[in-house]
Amino acid sequence: MSRKAAAVVAAKVASDNCAVLGLATGSTPIGLYQNLVKWNNEGLISFKKVQTVNLDEYCGLPREHDQSYAYFMNDNLFSHIDIDLNNTHLPDGTNPDPKKACEDYDEVLEKIGRQDVQVLGLGNNGHIGFNEPCDEFKPNVNHVMLTKSTIEANARFFETVDDVPKSAYTMGFKAIMRAKQILLVVSGAGKAEILEKALFGPITPQVPASILQLHGDVVVCADDEAMAKIKELHPEAIL
Ligand code: GLP
Repeated sequence: MSRKAAAVVAAKVASDNCAVLGLATGSTPIGLYQNLVKWNNEGLISFKKVQTVNLDEYCGLPREHDQSYAYFMNDNLFSHIDIDLNNTHLPDGTNPDPKKACEDYDEVLEKIGRQDVQVLGLGNNGHIGFNEPCDEFKPNVNHVMLTKSTIEANARFFETVDDVPKSAYTMGFKAIMRAKQILLVVSGAGKAEILEKALFGPITPQVPASILQLHGDVVVCADDEAMAKIKELHPEAIL
């Protein structure tokens, strides 16, 4: 799964050395990043002129905190490849003014203007980035209060559940949906039901990933466990 997903990203970089990559965190894309590191170290692809925009960041965690998404990206990708760190972008989780933090990141996204591919993971409740289930698809970068389910799911990375930040800044749907291609990576039996709902259920902000049904170029890289419900209910959809 990770190798195939990495190949989708590597193809963008190989065909355009100034590609813009939209990147995601979470445990699922780690293997994808390991493959990119390997191919970069082997000299097969170069990130020297590549730009990146990340989906989201926890509020209140400094970049040096080992659970901040800035730290995650350095640890899993940036510090192992030939990318210029000035070309890498995340929301500023340390900005205590949510309005300003969101406006600033929207400005960054606006200036960069595109993603050639946007990598997405899938939250247990169907969230993408940190866009939690709610009543609308918020277009711009927004300040989200994390749901109990997301806090509990992410508690595995922190010492206690109380250490998980209560809110985050996330890219909104305007910037996600403008990506030329979306690469959705999903792993494990725990995601089987929500993946089926997202791809075949009603399009609703209560299942944020369902908006991807409106995008013309979505590649889904999922393992057998995550695909189980789709295989059962929609066998005709499997390539
Ligand atoms: C976090 C991130 C999401 C990610 C999700 C799933 O909440 N904000 O971008 O998709 O976790 O993570 P995992 O891949 O570990 O299941």
